[in-house]
Amino acid sequence: MADVEIARSGAVLELTLNRPAKKNALTNAMYRTLNVALREAERDAGVGAVLLAGAGGVFSAGNDIGDFVAAAQGGEMAGADFVRRIAAFPKPLVAAVDGLAVGIGCTLLLHCDLVYATSESRFLLPFVDLGLLPEAGASLLLPRRVGMARASAWLLAGESFGADEAHDAGLLNAVVPADALMATAREKAARLAAKPRTALMAARKFLRGDTAEIVARIEAELDAFRKALASPEARAALTAFLNKGK
Ligand code: COA
Repeated sequence: MADVEIARSGAVLELTLNRPAKKNALTNAMYRTLNVALREAERDAGVGAVLLAGAGGVFSAGNDIGDFVAAAQGGEMAGADFVRRIAAFPKPLVAAVDGLAVGIGCTLLLHCDLVYATSESRFLLPFVDLGLLPEAGASLLLPRRVGMARASAWLLAGESFGADEAHDAGLLNAVVPADALMATAREKAARLAAKPRTALMAARKFLRGDTAEIVARIEAELDAFRKALASPEARAALTAFLNKGK
């Protein structure tokens, strides 16, 4: 089984993170697959919307920590290109979240137009506790979306939160029963995909705000993130995770 499953249903492209033994943590290889799929979806006139989901009762535990450690030593950071691509993606994005949404598994939701989650979902942005910084434009987009109080509790204090709080805060469109999650997300994505494409994409662009500002923030965050990755505090936190249980 591929770590990212790619399926097409009518005009909706479904991208499912499928590495459940590692809580769908995103590796460089998975980001590369996602990047190619998104690039092709952007070009393919037959694709009207993209649906992101996670297999096995988890959305994503965020970036693979082993890959972070390798990146700190000059290795690849394919997540950077994924962040750039999802932020600039011109077609509607719908997310179906079940279980954990950690790190980029949560910040990527800020680039989705419609987000549905089960009541079992739990969200966590542990960047600072790992000696790292928010990415994917979250330092700009999250306070804008949910207010500074919640953004500070989630991004600085690293407080986890559940689906109801995420819904109250405006991060989610709806909390749905687990057995209805995929059907709901698929139906919403199909509806978006069936809209007049040019009007929808133009309206979406206005709704998402000043692209140049978002891109500039993403690049500034990435620059700071790379420096933080090489810091002693990040090394200590990431190594501690990799050595847990040893
Ligand atoms: N990178 C690499 N491996 C990860 C991972 C990640 N981000 N998240 C989970 N895994 C792995 C675990 O190491 C474990 O592997 P093992 O079975 O070989 O030991 C497996 O996935 C299951 O995770 P486990 O920690 O046993 O599950 P849990 O339910 O007790 O906890 C989490 C789940 C997500 C809370 C916990 O795994 C975690 O904190 N992960 C790191 C999340 C993170 O910091 N991501 C980066 C954000 S910037």
